[in-house]
Amino acid sequence: MCGIFGFVAANPLPAELVVDALRTLEYRGYDSWGIAYAFQRDRTTTLVVDKRAGRIPAASPAYGSTTIALGHTRWATHGGVTDENAHPHVDCTGTLAIVHNGIIENYRVLREMLERKGHRFRSGTDSEVFAHLLEEILTTSRSIEPNGFELESGHLLVQAVRQAFAHVRGLNAFIVLHLPSQQLVAVKSTSPLVIGIGPRGVFVSSDAVALVGHAQRVHYVSDEEIVLLRQDGPLFFDRCTGTPSLPRWEPLTLRPADTSLGGYPHYLIKEIHEQPRVIERIIRNRLDGARQLADLIRQSYGTFLVGCGTAGYAALCGSYLFSRIARRHVNAVIASEFKYQEHFLTDRSLVIALTQSGETVDVIEAVQAAKRRGARVAALVNVTGSTVDRLADFTVPLSAGPEQSVLSTKAYTAKLAVLLLAAHILNGSEHVGVDVLWRAVDGMEQALAPQTLDRIRAVADRLVDAEHCYVIGRGLSYPTALEAALKIKEVTYIHAEGFAGGELKHGVIALIEEGSPCIVVSPLDETRADILSGAMEVRSRGAWVVGISPEPDDAFHVHIPIADVGDASPLVAIVPAQLLAYELAIRRGLDPDKPRNLAKSVTVK
Ligand code: G6P
Repeated sequence: MCGIFGFVAANPLPAELVVDALRTLEYRGYDSWGIAYAFQRDRTTTLVVDKRAGRIPAASPAYGSTTIALGHTRWATHGGVTDENAHPHVDCTGTLAIVHNGIIENYRVLREMLERKGHRFRSGTDSEVFAHLLEEILTTSRSIEPNGFELESGHLLVQAVRQAFAHVRGLNAFIVLHLPSQQLVAVKSTSPLVIGIGPRGVFVSSDAVALVGHAQRVHYVSDEEIVLLRQDGPLFFDRCTGTPSLPRWEPLTLRPADTSLGGYPHYLIKEIHEQPRVIERIIRNRLDGARQLADLIRQSYGTFLVGCGTAGYAALCGSYLFSRIARRHVNAVIASEFKYQEHFLTDRSLVIALTQSGETVDVIEAVQAAKRRGARVAALVNVTGSTVDRLADFTVPLSAGPEQSVLSTKAYTAKLAVLLLAAHILNGSEHVGVDVLWRAVDGMEQALAPQTLDRIRAVADRLVDAEHCYVIGRGLSYPTALEAALKIKEVTYIHAEGFAGGELKHGVIALIEEGSPCIVVSPLDETRADILSGAMEVRSRGAWVVGISPEPDDAFHVHIPIADVGDASPLVAIVPAQLLAYELAIRRGLDPDKPRNLAKSVTVK
């Protein structure tokens, strides 16, 4: 959560470059945004700060050029959504600016201490504490070593940031802009930071996507490091000892086309349409990964799939797939609840983390808990180089390409594809898994075809003003019902609930009244007869029933046809629900890529 970005360049660059980068990072939070940069006029350099509540405007304000700048896009935690609470935050002297991702858990006591020392706070955030704490440490150090050279060389600044960082509790990432020495410092604990170098300068960002077009090589900052960014390049130090350390550079493989809209009006619809190609790539390139995953499951005594949100539903679907295909009990646990069940873990357990970003704090904590107990950790991750990718003993990269809409779509079906393959491999039926996935690729294409879309649009027209919507499924389709409801609620704000079809009569049916929309997921599997009975029961109580199914049925008022793809039905049945969510958001005048209150990368608790 919160996107942070900064650069130091030998020759001036437009400060608007920061605003453009923040647009790419806006999915990390869009409550407010801001930038700070060094502005030189008549040999005087001042720190210019522009920060505002709300979304980044389409046209950037004109700022002029600078050799040093940083910026931030905020997902509010402490302090309301106001201009003052937007980042960057500056110290009392106006020569230090900081941007922050995370929560300073002990900010109250630090703020009180700093206020007692005379620091004046302008915001209600936890983050501002860091600017004043650093100012305090630098002032004290200067009185001991009033040596401009040390500060210019950066070492004093690095020591001061190390010291300040040691005082703050929580999972945090900071970039500090120090105007007098024209340097940035980057430091982090768990929250991600990436350094990039390119011909025009050195860059730092909370996500590699914002480095596309700027950097050719990147280094993922570890928790053990602190980085000084200067005009002549970055310097790396050990965060504990302050001694120099060495980076591990790797090429930045993302290209501008990966992050562009590619002719689509929104990332959500672009990413929905990318799904057949993503699954195709998994079949072609990830069979080895699925085989190794299957081996790990075979060797383990107790396997746990963990994930949050959409990834949590992929985990649940995985447990059904392993049960029916491989006759193997694989547990699915919501990552944020995992620590309350970690007592089962031994050194023979296997924890499989499912995560698009690889930065979700609850998933990271689940992985860390597993490692503490000596369990093996595998991961299905989309963002290479992310924290979970680096923590895991073994990763299957999803390679779905950057997912920029806050709603997860292609990473979800990619995870399902890998899990389905692993289940078939475990069962000794790899070729069946591959075959069924190819059928799913065709099935997804059909679900995206204009004929299907026409029906989905007709449903969207009818549901546009709905207050509630229910989705039911059984067995493999139960996670689909949950995920379909999540897609609808997070982007349309219609109250949508997914239920296991069998639970209807245990309370849920009391909610059904004349005209209640009810979506029924009904593949041609063993659940069909029972789920259709459920559909009839809600219909006879007035529900308006939409069936997502390969075959029509009398229970459906509207039938959205999908291909019959056997065990791969969750990959195909979710597509009409994703499209429906998108169509509803458009009809309701909502931004499909940036729903209110949400952020894509949930790095705080
Ligand atoms: C957020 C996103 C969801 C995503 C979840 C888990 O809530 O809005 O789309 O499913 O985080 O994210 P992860 O990156 O771990 O898959």
